[in-house]
Amino acid sequence: MVTHPVILGIETSCDETAAAVVDATGQVLGHALLSQAQDHAVYGGVVPEIAARAHGDHLDRMIAQALDESDMTIDDMDAIAATAGPGLIGGVMVGLVTAKALALGAGKPFVAVNHLEGHALSPRLGHDLAFPYLLLLVSGGHCQLLIVEDVGSYHRLGSTIDDAAGEAFDKTAKLLGLGYPGGPALEKAALSGDAARFPLPRPLLGQDNCNFSFSGLKTAVRRSAEKLADEQGGLYEQDICDLAAATQMAIGDCLIDRTRRAVDLYFTQMQPVTPTLVVAGGVAANKALRARLAELAESRDMAFVAPPLWLCTDNGAMIAWAGLERFRLGQRDGLDTPARPRWPLDETALPVYGGGKKGAKA
Ligand code: KG4
Ligand code: ZN
Repeated sequence: MVTHPVILGIETSCDETAAAVVDATGQVLGHALLSQAQDHAVYGGVVPEIAARAHGDHLDRMIAQALDESDMTIDDMDAIAATAGPGLIGGVMVGLVTAKALALGAGKPFVAVNHLEGHALSPRLGHDLAFPYLLLLVSGGHCQLLIVEDVGSYHRLGSTIDDAAGEAFDKTAKLLGLGYPGGPALEKAALSGDAARFPLPRPLLGQDNCNFSFSGLKTAVRRSAEKLADEQGGLYEQDICDLAAATQMAIGDCLIDRTRRAVDLYFTQMQPVTPTLVVAGGVAANKALRARLAELAESRDMAFVAPPLWLCTDNGAMIAWAGLERFRLGQRDGLDTPARPRWPLDETALPVYGGGKKGAKA
């Protein structure tokens, strides 16, 4: 049975072209996703222009598939939601313009969704998760600790001062020749590696804030790899696995240390009835990280919630769901809503880096 409202959600902010139909109970009625990973793999990262064109080529088909799978048409939707930022602007515009056109053509309300809110609320999709929860949001573009107080109400405790955690995975994987996307490839290699073999830095560890820094990691891994290659005339598969394991451990140590500090702040600031630690975003698909966060939560008598793996990386369902949560609260957006390359979740938080004429980086 379908429970209204039912929302079509569209996601095109990075390299996944995705659409989904979700209902009020969190049932995903239809879901279509096309990963462009192959298109970008040769370049070792997402090429914005290629991404935007590919979204333009495939989005219609993804929307048709999601609707077909749900056995509904656009006329059955209560609203159309799309990511309006932050993200690669060309791609965001493709999704946004398509959603607006559909809304206009079918006479449906349009809801603009912040991609980060899509990640932040994704653990509530099909899961009874109460506010306020402590969220570690770790993706390719973002790394933040936030208290999610309500839909639309976020208090940022800390953020990366340079690279995001996913970026650290991707850049190190690239230099180790593990391919793109780097996160899953590095996780796989790390399974057969010895994390203790290479000492890597843990920036900001133990500092009195909840910020992250990952930009030095890549250089440290490169130096270790070059030194070893000089000594033995090249790198063996086991060396790559050991370096991958060391990288994953170093990133994990930073994430856990900063999250532990955020847990203290969460308890002092919120006195939550059901204390809950939540992880979301692409890096939340990392099983080693999930296990370590679950342990941390248990040690502090907190519940731990992580979305299923498919819901961690970018998808249409999380955008449909965030749109639905907003729609239920009465949000309707105009067809003049702009695409935003930057759009912080907590607009009151001072930028830890990259404030400028374009506004704060998220
Ligand atoms: O949320 P997402 O799909 O896109 C952004 O909004 O950025 O996150 C993509 C990021 C990439 O950096 C990717 O390497 C990382 O998530 N990722 C992982 C894993 N799966 C995806 N990182 C570590 N381990 C994984 N299993
Ligand atoms: Zn994302």
